[in-house]
Amino acid sequence: MRSKIIFIVTVCLSPYLCRAQETAAITIGDSSGVTISKYIYGQFAEHLGRGIYDGFYRDGHIRTDIVNALREIKVPDLRWPGGCFADQYHWRDGIGPKEERPKTVNTTWGMVTEDNSFGTNEFMELCKEIGCEPYIAGNVGTGSPQEMKDWITYLNYDHHYHVSLWGVGNESWGCGGNMTPEYYANLYNHFAAFLPDYPGSHLKKVISGANGDDYHWTEVMMKQVGPDNAWGLSLHYYTFPTGKWKPRGSATHFSEQEYVHTLVEAENIDTIIAHHERIMDRYDPQKKLALMIDEWGVWTDVEPGTPGYAMYQQNSLRDALAAATTLNIFNNRADRVRGANLAQAVNVIQSLILTKGDKMIRTPTYWVFDLYKDHQDAKLLPVQVQSPLYNYGKDTVKAVNLSASIKDGLTHVTLVNLDAHQSIRVNAQIKAQGQLSGQILTSKHFTDINTFGHPETVKIVRFTDAKLNNNELTANLPPISVVELTIKP
Ligand code: AHR
Repeated sequence: MRSKIIFIVTVCLSPYLCRAQETAAITIGDSSGVTISKYIYGQFAEHLGRGIYDGFYRDGHIRTDIVNALREIKVPDLRWPGGCFADQYHWRDGIGPKEERPKTVNTTWGMVTEDNSFGTNEFMELCKEIGCEPYIAGNVGTGSPQEMKDWITYLNYDHHYHVSLWGVGNESWGCGGNMTPEYYANLYNHFAAFLPDYPGSHLKKVISGANGDDYHWTEVMMKQVGPDNAWGLSLHYYTFPTGKWKPRGSATHFSEQEYVHTLVEAENIDTIIAHHERIMDRYDPQKKLALMIDEWGVWTDVEPGTPGYAMYQQNSLRDALAAATTLNIFNNRADRVRGANLAQAVNVIQSLILTKGDKMIRTPTYWVFDLYKDHQDAKLLPVQVQSPLYNYGKDTVKAVNLSASIKDGLTHVTLVNLDAHQSIRVNAQIKAQGQLSGQILTSKHFTDINTFGHPETVKIVRFTDAKLNNNELTANLPPISVVELTIKP
C-alpha cells in the first residue's frame, strides 16, 4: 500500500504524466473552390556546395537514384541555378561540348572551380527525368536583358523546351545586387519588356521578392510593377533555430527549448505572409499575382568538418515537423500562395536527400513531401482548429495544425502534433464518409535523424488510431507526429 502511494505521488510530480489527454476541436468545411497549386511543393537546386556536383550530378551523370526518389514524391518544379549563384551565372558558359566549356570560379560560394559541366541542357534533362517543370532564375545582377532574352530564345524557340517559370533575378535587395526596391522595380520592368513569349511557351515571370518581413519591398513591387506585368512575386523566409543568423544552432544536438523555438520561428511565416498578402490585396484584390515563397526551410549550422559555404546539414524529425507545419500554412493560404521551393533538394540546408559517395538517404523532410503529395492540385477544404497549446519557457505554439483537400473524390487531411510529450485527441467535423486509411511519420525523439548506417530511423508507417463515424473524424495523434488521413467514398 505504502509503495502504491509513493508511486502515485512520484508520477504526479511529473507535469506531463498528470495532464489528462487534451483534445483539438476541428471543423473541416466544404470545398472553397481554391486549388492548392502543385507548385507549392517545388524544390530548389543551386550550384552551391554538393547540391549539383557530387549531389544531383556525379561523375558526369545525373543520378538515377535521386531522380527516382524525387519522382516518387511528384516534385512539380525545380528552381535552378540559384539562389545567389544565379546573378553571377552566364548561361553560355554551360552549353556546347563539355570539354570546350570554360572553367569559371564560383565567386558566390566558396571560390570553387565551376567547370560548367552541368549547364542548361543537363538541367533540362534532369527535369525531364524527374518529370518536373524547370524554374529558371535569370541573371539580373551581372547580366543584361539581351543575355536573358537569348537564354529564353535558346530554350523556348531553338530547342522547344517550353520553359515557363522564370525568375527575374534573385534577392535583388542583397546578393543579387544590393538594390533599393525602386531601382530593382525599374530594372524588372526593363528586363520584362524584352522577355519573349514564344508560341506554346508563355512565361510566368516572377519578381524577386522581399526578405522576410520587408513589407516596403512588396509595397514598391505592387506599385511599380503591379499584378499585370508578372505571374508571381517571390518571398524568402528561412527558419533559424536560435532565431539568429549565427550561431544558427546544431542540426542534431538541441534542447527542447530550441526545438520549440524553431517551431515558433517556422510558424512566424504565417504572420509574415498575412502582412504581404494585405499589401498585395490592396493593389490586386482579384489575386492575379501569385505569392511564391521560392526559398524557405530550417537553416542550421553545418555538420562538423564540412565547409561553411557548402551549407551541408543533417535533417531531424524537428525539421520534418517544421516543414509539415509550413506546408499546412501554405495550403491554407493557397488562394494567394501559389508556389514555394524548399531550400534545397540535395545536400544543402533543409535537404530532401543526403548523399555520401554513391549512397543516398531520404531525410525526414523527404517523407513529409511524400505524405503531402496528395494535396497537389487538389481543392482546398477550409479548416478551423481549436488546439491545445504547447508551452516551453517563453515559447508557445499551437500543438495541432492541419490542412485538408479533396481530389478525384478522395479527401486528404494532414495533421501535425508538435507537442513533444502529449498525444492529442483530434475531434473533427467533416462532410465526408467512406473508408478511412492513414499514414504516420514519427520517431522517439525530435532529434532523431536518418543516417547512412541507419537510413530508416524516421520513416512513414501505417496509422490505424483513427475512426470516421457519422461525419465525425477522431484520431489520437502521438507526440511529435505528422499524420495523413485519407477518406475514400
Ligand atoms: O539557399 C541558400 C542561399 O540563401 C541562396 O543562394 C540565397 O538566395 C539565399 O540567401
